Amino acid sequence: MNIPTELPEYLQPLGFIDGQWCAAVSGAAFEVLDPATGKKITSVPRMGESDTERAIAAAHKAYPAWRTMTAAARAGVLEAWAASMRARSDQLAQLLTWEQGKPVSESKVEIEYAASFFSWFAGEGRRIYGDTIPPHLPDTRILVMRQPMGVVGGITPWNFPSAMVTRKSAPALAAGNCMVLKPAESTPLSALALAGLALEAGVPPGVFNVVTGAREDAAVIGETLTSHPLVKKIGFTGSTVVGKHLMAGCVDGLKKISLELGGNAPFIVFDDADFEAALAGAMICKYRNTGQTCISANRILVQDSIHDRFVEALTARAAELVPGHGLEDGVSLGPLIEPRALDKVERLVADALAKGARLMIGGNRHSLGGTYYEPTVLSDVTPEMDITREEVFGPVAAIMRFSDEAEAIALANDTQYGLSGYFYSRDVGRVFRVAEALETGIVGVNTGLISTEIAPFGGVKESGIGREGSKYGIEDWTEIKYVCLAGIGEGS
Ligand code: SIN
Repeated sequence: MNIPTELPEYLQPLGFIDGQWCAAVSGAAFEVLDPATGKKITSVPRMGESDTERAIAAAHKAYPAWRTMTAAARAGVLEAWAASMRARSDQLAQLLTWEQGKPVSESKVEIEYAASFFSWFAGEGRRIYGDTIPPHLPDTRILVMRQPMGVVGGITPWNFPSAMVTRKSAPALAAGNCMVLKPAESTPLSALALAGLALEAGVPPGVFNVVTGAREDAAVIGETLTSHPLVKKIGFTGSTVVGKHLMAGCVDGLKKISLELGGNAPFIVFDDADFEAALAGAMICKYRNTGQTCISANRILVQDSIHDRFVEALTARAAELVPGHGLEDGVSLGPLIEPRALDKVERLVADALAKGARLMIGGNRHSLGGTYYEPTVLSDVTPEMDITREEVFGPVAAIMRFSDEAEAIALANDTQYGLSGYFYSRDVGRVFRVAEALETGIVGVNTGLISTEIAPFGGVKESGIGREGSKYGIEDWTEIKYVCLAGIGEGS
């Protein structure tokens, strides 16, 4: 196994404000742990209100020059940032696995996914087009332009510690804004690595700032961002509970907010599906990142006539997963991020079993210890079980049975969440009917993998507001301005 012994040279275990590495004003720090071993990797600053204010001031100072650069010049900087990432992808992937736990093969995919947002939005920034509208008066012209907002805040999660940073900062910066980022307390190093590479790529001081903080500091940093008059918008990925709290914090200043929140994805397998494709899709959609993904298959719904065969086949595939340290060769399932995640998975499995679910495989903490949990399959799952209501965020496949299309749709939509949904079918009429009926922002048809920088990612219902990625993802980081130009004369 290749556990690093030191951090990459372009990254310091400090906050990053105004192009400088810095400790917290208080001098306090907290430990970043390897979730696979529980061992300390390093310590980073416990920043608070005054550090966050300093970062906001730095972003505000950088804004006039950044916003007035041409879009092409900003694009050049973002492209250089992407190139720095790609040149270091093996090292960045190793760092990501070290602090987050996912198998390094998945981390490599994430680093390319993360870099792709810089490349994509470098292009989109050059296409922030306006409009002209046929005027309402003869001597008037109406122009519509989209402008940057100013200083913006990003708050990002630990499950994709690199890609969620770039999915927010790339469109924000491409549009001409300057960002203050608060990465998750469990995984600040991937964000700090991006800060180090920002220096190398020529991102001007203050355009991208990183404020680190422990769990106890999250509320004060979040409140400073949501309440500060210079911060014009917040982009957050995380839990629905925290998202609602941040949104409430934005009410006073009527601050814009984009939220990518929890999910409860249905994964429906109809009896006309390509069975093997559905099986492979369910495996990746459920067990990728040890199930710690907002778009994981949370409830697997299988039609009666193929139900037993599917349960048996999925159980056999789950048995082939190899839990272990993500930096070890051949490992396909990492640990959970922290002990309380393990407690939650245990609680959900215990509740399901107590209410009549059948344990097909797993169901226990793994003998590797720490936060490892066995790859688990439950069948006979019913809507009364908590596992169908809450985001599992663990390697547990919860399988429900249904008899027809109407029942599948009703079960799928029976949740307050609406991020992603998946189904497998070869009936083209059904493909349209079900895709249209699912109450989700994203639908995967005959695939369990829908993430790409070129498509709009986001949810409906209590899964969020706004979209990230794609041509739509940059709109959320701009304001529309209408210019009414009068007195130009009647013309000839
Ligand atoms: C998420 O879990 O929030 C992001 C997943 C992805 O982009 O694939």
